[in-house]
Amino acid sequence: MNLTIIGSGYVGLTTGTCFAEMGHHVICVDNNREKIRTLQSGSIPIYEPKLEDLIRKNVAVGRLEFSPDIASSIPQSDVIFIAVPTPPNTDGSVDLTYIEKVVREIAEVLKPEMGYKVIVDKSTVPVKTGEKVRQTIKRYAGPDVQFDIVSNPEFLREGCAVDDLLHPDRIVIGSNSERAMNVIKRVYQPIHAPILETDVNSAELIKHAANSFLALKISYINAVAKVCEKTGADVELVAEGIGMDKRISRHFLNAGLGYGGSCFPKDVKAFINISRTLGIPFTLLEEVERINDSQHTHFLDQIRDRLWVLKDKKIAVWGLAFKQNTGDIRESISLKLCEKLRKEGAIVTATDPKAIGTARSRLEELGVTPVEDMYECARDAEVLIIATEWSDYANADLQKLAEIMRNRIIFDGRNILSPANIRAVGFEYHSVGRPFIEEA
Ligand code: UDX
Ligand code: UDX
Repeated sequence: MNLTIIGSGYVGLTTGTCFAEMGHHVICVDNNREKIRTLQSGSIPIYEPKLEDLIRKNVAVGRLEFSPDIASSIPQSDVIFIAVPTPPNTDGSVDLTYIEKVVREIAEVLKPEMGYKVIVDKSTVPVKTGEKVRQTIKRYAGPDVQFDIVSNPEFLREGCAVDDLLHPDRIVIGSNSERAMNVIKRVYQPIHAPILETDVNSAELIKHAANSFLALKISYINAVAKVCEKTGADVELVAEGIGMDKRISRHFLNAGLGYGGSCFPKDVKAFINISRTLGIPFTLLEEVERINDSQHTHFLDQIRDRLWVLKDKKIAVWGLAFKQNTGDIRESISLKLCEKLRKEGAIVTATDPKAIGTARSRLEELGVTPVEDMYECARDAEVLIIATEWSDYANADLQKLAEIMRNRIIFDGRNILSPANIRAVGFEYHSVGRPFIEEA
């Protein structure tokens, strides 16, 4: 099939590439001409495992191309996917201006002689947005244009987006038209996954409800971690024990500094705002957000307790990305920690295997020194903070670390180091919801 994806960011680019891999002909469009030039020249603007190889392969066989131009892409496409940002406004509502603009642009290109088109929303939007999209297209495209609207939310996690797209738990297709439903089922035909067919409103709601529920699981275990800290229990064992119950599952029960990234913080905020607007405040989610915001400040309190004064102390931070296997720093908890440490006058160095480039200008603003090598970053530090769950950090050479740090103190904000290894080297070790280990 011929597909156009509008918005070639994390979601649009990976989705478009995977559709090409499935055998479709895909044009990835973006209004950022620089990004399109980069892609056309064979470079990839983001780090996402497996993506680069798939892009190269599919461009080479002519199934994937990049364009800055909606007008030339739409006439040749059966389906048009929208994957532009839906960021939060300051009051927590969703900024739909990019979506509205793109929908108008699509409408102005559509002509009756182009035949039937399916317009699919992939971006995360408030329930009932599809209806607005339909009205807007009708208004700007005229009455004779044949089209239907579909909501097809994405569930891909950065860092394993390609696998999530090619092997999803489920595919949700929301449409009020059987014809459109069948078209989108054909798009996904090469994928072996259960398909849930719904109306547009339900599909839109599934996305906010799913992400808010996952955020809730994380805040739940983080709240349990605080109880563990007060009682000497170990949150890892508690998570394992409750997660063995299939009704609960172990997934998304990793205690730590809290959730970041471009989705959970914004989607929880949006769902709170949507329900408040509907007159049914979802106060449970307000608590989820409050717990998440308190995770890193509580962690910082513990570091302050230990060092007494932070001013002029050298603190090393391992990890800048909002999670492992990505270079993305959107809503990164690590950067929030760096900002607070700098405000208190600490001397901060930071490292990351993939995110130093994306973080560089922010680090400069904050006065944090980026260091490529993780051990050099920790040299002479009074404390090492682990802020992102990269496997390089989980497998760190602790003996080497002990030799180069000023104090042997680690604050592990992602619980990735093994207490047995820590004890063997004699570090003082603080983590989240696990028993404190004293320096040997
Ligand atoms: C997406 C979704 O669209 C968002 O709703 C969802 O919740 C998370 O994923 P993401 O792909 O992560 O966002 O955003 P980003 O990497 O910023 O990419 C968006 C792209 O759209 C950018 O390349 C931007 O240049 C492009 N864009 C934006 C357009 O092509 N046209 C516009 O009008 C606006
Ligand atoms: C999320 C959704 O999982 C995905 O389905 C899609 O809707 C986009 O948003 P993403 O933000 O890429 O994906 O990453 P995810 O793996 O969900 O992690 C989000 C944040 O939660 C990260 O900061 C991560 O460190 C944190 N997290 C995750 C925890 O703190 N504990 C966990 O157990 C899991």
